[in-house]
Amino acid sequence: MIDSLGAPQSVLVLGATSDIAGATLARLTRTGRLERVVLAGRPGPARDAAVERVAATGVPRVEALDFDARDRASAPAVVAAAFDADGDIDVVLLSWGVLPDEAAMRQDPSAAADLVDVNYASMVTALLAAVEHLREQGHGVVVVLSSASAVRGRSSTALYGSTKAGVDSLASALGDALHGTGVSVVVVRPGFVRTRMTAGRRPAPLAVDASDVADAIALSLTGGSRTVWVPRAMRYVMAGLVVTPRAVFRRLPI
Ligand SMILES: NC(=O)c1ccc[n+]([C@@H]2O[C@H](COP(=O)([O-])OP(=O)(O)OC[C@H]3O[C@@H](n4cnc5c(N)ncnc54)[C@H](OP(=O)(O)O)[C@@H]3O)[C@@H](O)[C@H]2O)c1
Repeated sequence: MIDSLGAPQSVLVLGATSDIAGATLARLTRTGRLERVVLAGRPGPARDAAVERVAATGVPRVEALDFDARDRASAPAVVAAAFDADGDIDVVLLSWGVLPDEAAMRQDPSAAADLVDVNYASMVTALLAAVEHLREQGHGVVVVLSSASAVRGRSSTALYGSTKAGVDSLASALGDALHGTGVSVVVVRPGFVRTRMTAGRRPAPLAVDASDVADAIALSLTGGSRTVWVPRAMRYVMAGLVVTPRAVFRRLPI
């Protein structure tokens, strides 16, 4: 169970090698309360290293599961496997995705459809499966990595933003439906985060580090807001951008 200070005992991560997931686990292990971490991702040295990093912090049970978001059936199977094993799962962290080259992808509709599978379709199947298992269990939190770009798509990342908009909309609505059940959905909307995903891209204004997202996620587990902006000021920036007329918005250098 998540204690009154927001410290969970067990976490399932889909996106084992994600920098944001790694920072979040590093933050949660600091409580000394974590007993079980399940890391789901594509097998390989990066996932092995992620397992070793968590084990080195003293978490007694660290497990790895194979997960490939290109396969829509993979996420529900992974979630079921984690819940079927011994013990509850307090937090399910959905932290995978790709940020493709927008121009190249617009030339290749079938690659764009693959992006939809990875960033959206598998998020849908993972989210639905996680919510169902948590409801059966009677408690827990799903933390979904959305993006500030979900709120208003920009032409420079239009395809990526559209997948995040779908994820954000579903996760927010499911979270509302779950109110009062003991199960909740936290929707995380970071702006630009300096991680492997954004390496080589020019940092946007209000750029943050993965550790900032981790701190915000950890704070949300204490029961605060179910919509988490990182940094917080991003909420006000996006509120302004949402009502900016398209004729102005399309000229903005963002
Ligand atoms: N960085 C940002 O600026 C930013 C901003 C807002 C939201 N987000 C969101 O935050 C989440 C984590 O991003 P990050 O910044 O931590 O990126 P990251 O370090 O690049 O991690 C991306 C993760 O996605 C996994 N992944 C990619 N394709 C996959 C597939 N087909 N099957 C399974 N896993 C796959 C990668 O696994 P492999 O190691 O196997 O490739 C990796 O674990 C994503 O949902 C992202 O959209 C990021």
